[in-house]
Amino acid sequence: MSSIVIVGAQWGDEGKGKVTDLLAERADAVIRFQGGNNAGHTIIRDGETFKLHLIPSGILHRDTLCIIGNGVVVDPRVLTEELDALRRRGVDTGGLRISANAHLIMPYHLLLDLAREQRLGKLEIGTTRRGIGPCYEDKAARLGIRMQDLLDPKILRKKIVAALEPKRLTLRPHAKDPALDLHAMVEEYVTYGHRLAQYIADTSKVVWDLLDEGRPVLFEGAQGALLDIDHGTYPFVTSSNPVAGAACIGAGVGPKDIDEVWGVSKAYTTRVGAGPFPSEIDGDLADQLRAKGVEFGTTTGRARRVGWIDLVALRYAARINSLTALVLTKLDVLSGLERVPLCTGYRSAEGAELDHFPYHQSVLHHATPTLVELPGWEEDIGEARREEDLPEAARAYLEFVAEFVGVPVALVGVGPGRDQVIWNEVTAPAAG
Ligand code: IMP
Repeated sequence: MSSIVIVGAQWGDEGKGKVTDLLAERADAVIRFQGGNNAGHTIIRDGETFKLHLIPSGILHRDTLCIIGNGVVVDPRVLTEELDALRRRGVDTGGLRISANAHLIMPYHLLLDLAREQRLGKLEIGTTRRGIGPCYEDKAARLGIRMQDLLDPKILRKKIVAALEPKRLTLRPHAKDPALDLHAMVEEYVTYGHRLAQYIADTSKVVWDLLDEGRPVLFEGAQGALLDIDHGTYPFVTSSNPVAGAACIGAGVGPKDIDEVWGVSKAYTTRVGAGPFPSEIDGDLADQLRAKGVEFGTTTGRARRVGWIDLVALRYAARINSLTALVLTKLDVLSGLERVPLCTGYRSAEGAELDHFPYHQSVLHHATPTLVELPGWEEDIGEARREEDLPEAARAYLEFVAEFVGVPVALVGVGPGRDQVIWNEVTAPAAG
């Protein structure tokens, strides 16, 4: 294994945490490069469930460095709570490094996120309300507070005052909110600084040193390609770039340092929040899929919208990420269906057949799916560990997806457990 970027190839929640956890076993470092605690990874280890929002999934491996890159926005309250929770369960957190340049989510970012969504009313984006958008806005406006600012109370105070100034009007209804008390805010964040100082580092250099020695490194994306602020279903997107190219910017490496890009997709599709979703289904079948796949958000607990696998969107994700491999998760959730639909095209409101992901928002909003149906399978596939163990129909399903998207399937998920996976022979770990 060399350097691999792991990205979501749909609208997030594809199961990247488990994939990262599996690959992290062979990696010397795992780096998160964008997003914040809007993400949520559930990892099941020896029957224990770990829910992580900010700390890379590799933290459960003793010898793996876990890096929060400069492209991540960090809520220090959430990060310190996560560290405490891991320590309470005996996890060694000594391998954590946080970029000195990572931006901080401040109490006013949370208030602004909420206020904006309320103002949008029915047109709301359905954000996770974690302050992600307002924090990235401040970063772009050069009003952001960075991890390194926590180490100097005077500078911290000055920067908070400057950041608050242009927000005074919007925040006026919250003027008495204790979260906005300047003195208390500075104190609170200085305390976080004391707690986090030991982890703050020049992480771009840390990653470079590893790559220079030819050590295996993983870049862990959050959210998914279709939530990308440039390439996703704007404005129903997150405020960062979850695509593979962002690994370079958000970790501080060059494009030539990336060897492989693995795109993770469920065997069906889910989405949380508002926005277009052409292959969405509702009714009983949707409820069944949601219940069987436990499709409720790790971060917000929201019920996820569900639909069939969208191969048009997946092929688009393969293109904009230069995917070298696909990971298909939760194939077991489809067991028991008589026929399995796959979306292979869209029909526009005018009746035009589309085989590419449309760039125009209105076209996508009104697109309906063209579905093909493959035979389903009845068998419980949770015990399958090699492709040969799968029913023929499940194998045909995987083949169809790989062929349509034009990317080989490296790994298949057949259940929630860590061992419930099928490695493609080429990608299987040596000890495998
Ligand atoms: P934000 O990232 O909180 O600003 O939310 C913007 C959009 O991205 C909303 O539709 C969220 O539901 C969605 N979103 C953000 N993070 C995730 C994630 O980790 N999984 C799935 N959807 C996400």
